[in-house]
Amino acid sequence: MFESDFLITAPASKDLYRELMARVTELLCSCLPDHSYSGKNPSVLSALIDPEFLPDASAAPEAVFDKLRVIVSNSVVVSHPNTAAHLHCPPLLAALAAEAAISALNQSMDSFDQAPIATSVEQKFVQWLTAEAGFPAGGNGTLTAGGTQSNYMGLLLARDAFLKSRFQWPAQKRGLPPEAARMRVLCSEVAHFTVEKSAAQLGLGTDAVVRVAVDDEFRMQPESLRTALDDMRDKNLLPFAIVATAGSTDFGSVDPLQDIAALARSAGVWLHVDAAYGGSLLFSQSHRDKLEGIASADSLSIDFHKLFWQPIPASAFLLRDARHFELIEQHADYLNPEAHEEQGIPNLVKNSLLTTRRFDALKLWLSFQMLGRQKLSAMIDRTIELALCAANTVGRRPELQLIHGASLSTVVFRYIPSRQGLDVNGLNTVLRQRLFDLGLAVIGHTRVRGQQCLKLTCMNPAVSDAQMEALVCTIAEHGRQLEVGWPLG
Ligand SMILES: Cc1ncc(COP(=O)(O)O)c(C=O)c1O
Repeated sequence: MFESDFLITAPASKDLYRELMARVTELLCSCLPDHSYSGKNPSVLSALIDPEFLPDASAAPEAVFDKLRVIVSNSVVVSHPNTAAHLHCPPLLAALAAEAAISALNQSMDSFDQAPIATSVEQKFVQWLTAEAGFPAGGNGTLTAGGTQSNYMGLLLARDAFLKSRFQWPAQKRGLPPEAARMRVLCSEVAHFTVEKSAAQLGLGTDAVVRVAVDDEFRMQPESLRTALDDMRDKNLLPFAIVATAGSTDFGSVDPLQDIAALARSAGVWLHVDAAYGGSLLFSQSHRDKLEGIASADSLSIDFHKLFWQPIPASAFLLRDARHFELIEQHADYLNPEAHEEQGIPNLVKNSLLTTRRFDALKLWLSFQMLGRQKLSAMIDRTIELALCAANTVGRRPELQLIHGASLSTVVFRYIPSRQGLDVNGLNTVLRQRLFDLGLAVIGHTRVRGQQCLKLTCMNPAVSDAQMEALVCTIAEHGRQLEVGWPLG
């Protein structure tokens, strides 16, 4: 009775599978809107969703596909030239095809008997990536759900390695010792908020995070880092990790990794590099040198759902010395009994925070095979070129002020009204929202030194210079229109 509901060998199920895949593909090809967003607000969207999630009997396919069409047409179109808000990429077609296989095969990476060849694919992929990052033999890693999880893993292992070496304290077994109240993490003023989030979840508290000053290009100042480390020693605090950023979210700035690595080494502190955004530069022929020093990291986050054009989720956590994974190792009789170790049966669950886990390495493998190194490099370079184009266009518009442009693929700027005495922060906030509500553009926003700014994050290498210039002009034009009716004071 249920035969055709599953992808099994029966002819009926194969036909249904082909039909469903074809219909979904056709729907995506035919009804992706030609704007970046429909502009509908949350209450209108909510009214579009039928609260009945589980009808008593199967609904007619036509009716279901009509509802799916509503969801597709009210989604942000990530490949539209005017979608440029976040580190949110249009996915590669090869990766979309691989996603279908990942889901259909439904391998689970937590044990060899659920993912035999998938285990080898991921192992080989991670080994290859550690070598690309310049790590010596003896490194390893795991695929994760995103930069948040990768950064968390870096700080978790840094915390436990520190407690073990300094106090012979097994944190996994005993929790935190009283000395943990003195432990500190250092990162730059513009490092990602997941540093605080991780510190909170690790029982250290957000107060354990010390933000270090950046220079005019939003890169951590090594001198300030040195002072902060000295200061901590004087106060009997325990700095155990430095998080350097390779590609800050708003500015794309890359911290001086070599200098920071030298300071971390001499202070005996773990260096985690958050390269969630900038990690793709490893594969850029023109910009690889910006990551000089990355190979000195103890651990590394690289997101593939950013500048590698993978569907969410796709990220990696890399570890210079694979032995540190032992700090989080657990055995379960049903899954990875210790006997398996002796028998040489691999299990990836011991390197992961998760148990059941997707075979995401497959989409990376298929994408990289189909793309090749040269094309990947050209795509990365093109996004940086596009950001330069956007920054130059901003620079030519008298009503726009460039705050920071094109360290990587972002541009931060603001609309400056010609009339004096207007609330510039308020105007920029409303300008971004107006473009969103009108369905004209999905652009980013952030605050820089108290100033409300607009942000373009160029993630689509298929966008032309002319399209990027047109987007900047649309923003400026709407700023002007808004200014006309804007009250003084
Ligand atoms: C620098 C940086 N680190 C970490 C993260 C978190 O990554 P994710 O959203 O994949 O969890 C982001 C997200 O944009 C980021 O820009």
